[in-house]
Amino acid sequence: MGRITAAITAVGGYVPDFRLTNKMLETMVDTTDEWITTRTGIKERRILKDKDKGTSFLAIKAAENLISKSNLDPSEIDLVIVGTATPDLPVASTSAYVASQIGAVNAFSFDIQAACSNFLFGMSTAASYIESGRYKKVLLIGADKMSSILDYTERTTCIIFGDGAGAVLFEPNYEGLGLQDEYLRSDGRGREFLKIEAGGSLMPASEETVKNKKHYVYQDGKSVFKFAVSNMADVAAKIMERNNLTHDDVDWLIPHQANKRIVDATAKRMDLESSKVMMNIDKYGNTTSATLPLLLFDYEKKLKKGDNLVFAAFGGGFTWGSIYLKWAYNGNNESK
Ligand code: UT7
Repeated sequence: MGRITAAITAVGGYVPDFRLTNKMLETMVDTTDEWITTRTGIKERRILKDKDKGTSFLAIKAAENLISKSNLDPSEIDLVIVGTATPDLPVASTSAYVASQIGAVNAFSFDIQAACSNFLFGMSTAASYIESGRYKKVLLIGADKMSSILDYTERTTCIIFGDGAGAVLFEPNYEGLGLQDEYLRSDGRGREFLKIEAGGSLMPASEETVKNKKHYVYQDGKSVFKFAVSNMADVAAKIMERNNLTHDDVDWLIPHQANKRIVDATAKRMDLESSKVMMNIDKYGNTTSATLPLLLFDYEKKLKKGDNLVFAAFGGGFTWGSIYLKWAYNGNNESK
């Protein structure tokens, strides 16, 4: 038997029905559709309105969609990884609840937290378990209920984020398809620029923290933008160079959806035409852990076996990186 590579063999996704449009935001904060569209590329985002549902609801829906599309028997799943910045509870793994609810009764599970790089770093983790030969079916889910940590009176953050979830299944491949290379980075000096200050061990919840709105996302947008533009473009260029990929060789760029201008800068650096760049920020905004799998979900039909995909992400921490992956199947995998 040849070398085991880790391929994505199925995709699922879910976004809630409620659409929060730019026009609606105009009535909530001092902003305009024009400003949001030109500065970010976002037109609307989906919001999970049900107060009694958390991130696990989104994750379960995405996983169930994958399971039904691919005829996967959930009892065969070995491992469930949930990447999320908005776990159901601060303690008690969201993944354990998700695994039980989807019938992954023989799996172990854990959450990972690397902010907007959750899914990218999760791909590396999932693939490593497959490549080692240790496990055969690893379900990776990226899910976030960002609306649970947004201040809807703060125009600099509430216009950006949305709720959603995406899931992929990693399995062994013997044709050399799947994850080829990764370049993952982090720099803790960035945490001042993008954070939720309270609710952790450094600043536990108190009357004071609630009063001072310390449980909401804070972002120094301009600084994050600067780092995101240069770092995301750098890692994408680096992964191309390291794998001798020219812009002709790359079939798709799958970039984190934080801001259309960041994506455009990355594509430009890769000398990639816009038809090869997956985009859905206009429909969903920034769904944090769910941006990359939701792109796969939306573009799955267009993907062909052997396509060269370059993933790139940047997020809080700072965390960022790029992954080069060869796609393993044609179109929708409905009847696998
Ligand atoms: O996913 C994790 C990583 N996150 C990112 O990559 C996000 C990176 N940052 C960004 O995408 C952008 O910085 C933002 C979209 C957050 C902001 O865009 P910007 O072009 O960097 O705007 P800015 O912060 O420089 O603000 C420009 C002006 C300011 O007014 P003054 O000071 O020039 O009078 C803001 O107060 O725009 C104002 N502004 C707004 N105006 C209308 C900020 N937010 C809004 C708004 N509507 N929603």
